[in-house]
Amino acid sequence: MNDNFKAKAVQWDSPDKIKMTQKFLSEMLFNVNPLQSWKAMEIGAGTGLVGLNVEPLVAKVVLVDTSEAMLEVLKEKLTESSKVEILHGEVFDYKKQDIDFVFSAMAFHHLTDVEKTVEHLATITKPGAWVVVGDLVIEDGSFHGFEPIPYCGFDTDVLSKQFVKAGFDVKTVKIYNTITRITDEKTTNYEQFMLIAKRL
Ligand SMILES: C[S@@+](CC[C@H](N)C(=O)[O-])C[C@H]1O[C@@H](n2cnc3c(N)ncnc32)[C@H](O)[C@@H]1O
Repeated sequence: MNDNFKAKAVQWDSPDKIKMTQKFLSEMLFNVNPLQSWKAMEIGAGTGLVGLNVEPLVAKVVLVDTSEAMLEVLKEKLTESSKVEILHGEVFDYKKQDIDFVFSAMAFHHLTDVEKTVEHLATITKPGAWVVVGDLVIEDGSFHGFEPIPYCGFDTDVLSKQFVKAGFDVKTVKIYNTITRITDEKTTNYEQFMLIAKRL
């Protein structure tokens, strides 16, 4: 498996990333109130900036990521009593239908096939389960510079329709944050959306 995050992993937990994930967390937890009995899952958990903050709120959290390097940083944060299951791979490798809550922050644009992923989520979530996706609204491709990326953000109408088609009720889609980058030439704003859906 090619690890695109190998070089970034040890420096991932920067003040900017921590601030960005805190915004995602507070918006998500304003809308979804996790129960202590829930089994949660994060897609693209990285170093755990989001998932390890959800862990105390639920019975278990499955942290899914394809990057060994990101997961190595995450593992250093775990303790004996951590309620964490690590899945080094893709969400397609998870086959049980026992998930109450799925969340994902800034990982969907790295997935190879989002429509197939959404369809798979319908097979591993329980009826009534919540899914929260935070990612970029369509951007001009400059967010990752020269790095090739499967999705330059998302048309949230198209993504919503994919969730509906897969068997979810899309409750809200909103812009919850804007990332501003200023260079000598220009200022670019990248909007981040949050989609919240409930499995029918
Ligand atoms: C931009 S990082 C976000 C990490 C974390 N969610 C955060 O906000 O700090 C994207 C993460 O998605 C992971 N990723 C990329 N493709 C993936 C896939 N197909 N399945 C699971 N994780 C993937 C990367 O390895 C990386 O850790």
